[in-house]
Amino acid sequence: MTRKRWMRFVFLASWIFCGSAERLIASDDDSAAAAERGRIALTLGSFLAPEWKSSAYAATASFLGMAPSDAETKPEAFSAAFRARYGLHEAPYPNDGLPMGIRRGKGADGRKQGLQIDCMVCHGGSIGGQSYVGLGNTTLDLDTLLREMTLADGRRPPPRVFTLNSTRGTVNAGQIAAILLSLRNPDLSRSRIPIPLGANLPELDVPPWWRLAKKTTIYYDGRTDARSVRTNMQFLLGEFTLEDFKRMEPTFRDIREYFKSIKPPKYPFTIDRERAVIGRVVFEKSCSKCHGTYGADGEYPNVIVELDKIGTDPKRALGLSDRLIAHYNSTWLGEEYPADTKMIGYQAPPLDGIWATAPFLHNGSVPTLDALLDSSKRPIRFRKPPTTDFQYYDQMNVGWKVETIDPSETDRDIPKDAPPTEARRIYDTRRFGLGNQGHLYGDKLKDADRRALIEYLKTL
Ligand code: HEC
Ligand code: HEC
Repeated sequence: MTRKRWMRFVFLASWIFCGSAERLIASDDDSAAAAERGRIALTLGSFLAPEWKSSAYAATASFLGMAPSDAETKPEAFSAAFRARYGLHEAPYPNDGLPMGIRRGKGADGRKQGLQIDCMVCHGGSIGGQSYVGLGNTTLDLDTLLREMTLADGRRPPPRVFTLNSTRGTVNAGQIAAILLSLRNPDLSRSRIPIPLGANLPELDVPPWWRLAKKTTIYYDGRTDARSVRTNMQFLLGEFTLEDFKRMEPTFRDIREYFKSIKPPKYPFTIDRERAVIGRVVFEKSCSKCHGTYGADGEYPNVIVELDKIGTDPKRALGLSDRLIAHYNSTWLGEEYPADTKMIGYQAPPLDGIWATAPFLHNGSVPTLDALLDSSKRPIRFRKPPTTDFQYYDQMNVGWKVETIDPSETDRDIPKDAPPTEARRIYDTRRFGLGNQGHLYGDKLKDADRRALIEYLKTL
């Protein structure tokens, strides 16, 4: 058997082995059961074939300042060093001692086959020492993780063809999907040469999954129908055939039900309730027409605001080319729910759990709610905190305590020998797609009203 066929065999076998999910699908049950199947498939099943040998994990020791044997003898310390370097979090589900986002691909007999990343590398975050599936990962350095795991596996990393992430916590997921799609024909067979689609997307902040309970269109530009489960399968384009996709679709339908069942964590510190009542009035006057109302009879209007009206960094909205959309829509992925061929701007997201999702805007360019609602306070260049522990959480301004750096400094001032993981704590709003302009709706508010509004936002 060739390696490729062997991998596919391993995958199919493992699917049957881990995926009791599929066998349950026929039964006619409610969405809670579907959500539970989705949770199991997403957090305990594996989709992609392993990318690295299992030994690569211990072999990252040289990057962590540890010995490879420490992975065996001091597993907790090793895992903590690994998480700290790459910006990963403890898994809140059984994951074989590995951080959330790294997965051991299992074979038919349950033997360990190797390692791979999964959805939670980006969509698994933590705050105050607690991990959550579906909270965007704001500390991830994916570029360094992928390169060093490959080096640890004894291979040379592929050349960089685009910026995956210039900073920690943002990631260029869109360009990955665009490249994978350019390698497939409309019938999803492999194309011999990449199809020129002309997309040029920037790195982004990762949105929390709990918003999917309300959204009727998804992604930052709101161009995709939220009912599309096929859109979530784009990351699997590296490996599978159209038949595989069709077979996996019911599982992804369950995963979508799971997303819709995720609830945001509650604000863990005290809230000034009297002030929040005043803030609610301010919110309903200045913000609700785009962001909706909250509470038992809350309504979410699903508004997409024109790009020149919202005024935030335009690169994400403009980066999807017409050709890419047309190509996507010509495939099975876009057949049922084609992406909107018209670009409008950015979708005003539901603000549930907003306290936990700093930094703000689609590119994570604004560290706190106070700075979002008073644009004069937005830093141009800043250093992000090393972890998501509460010692770095700013309860007053709601978001992250960042260290503002003199804007006369540029990336050229970063010492050449600075470890990539440290250099990437610096966020520079002058980089491609990382601008912090626009969304000026809080600027005209009186200070007392802004404070009250921030207090109210903690209650969502
Ligand atoms: C490399 C990081 C990364 C990985 C891996 C990843 N995502 Fe995402 N995901 C993102 C980013 C960034 C966005 C925002 C994209 C945009 O709007 O342009 C996103 C958006 C989404 C959305 C839409 C959310 C919304 O509110 O509009 C869903 C649903 C989603 N991802 C599901 C998944 C699933 C399922 C997987 C695994 C099969 C996955 N993602 C893997 C980074 C990632
Ligand atoms: C005209 C519509 C509109 C109004 C009015 C509006 N917003 Fe927004 N808001 C948006 C859009 C669109 C975005 C997404 C922009 C982006 O990410 O580039 C957004 C983003 C946000 C975010 C960041 C979400 C995140 O996850 O990063 C917060 C917080 C927010 N708005 C709060 C408010 C508050 C508070 C008000 C009232 C003072 C308000 N907005 C008024 C449209 C609006």
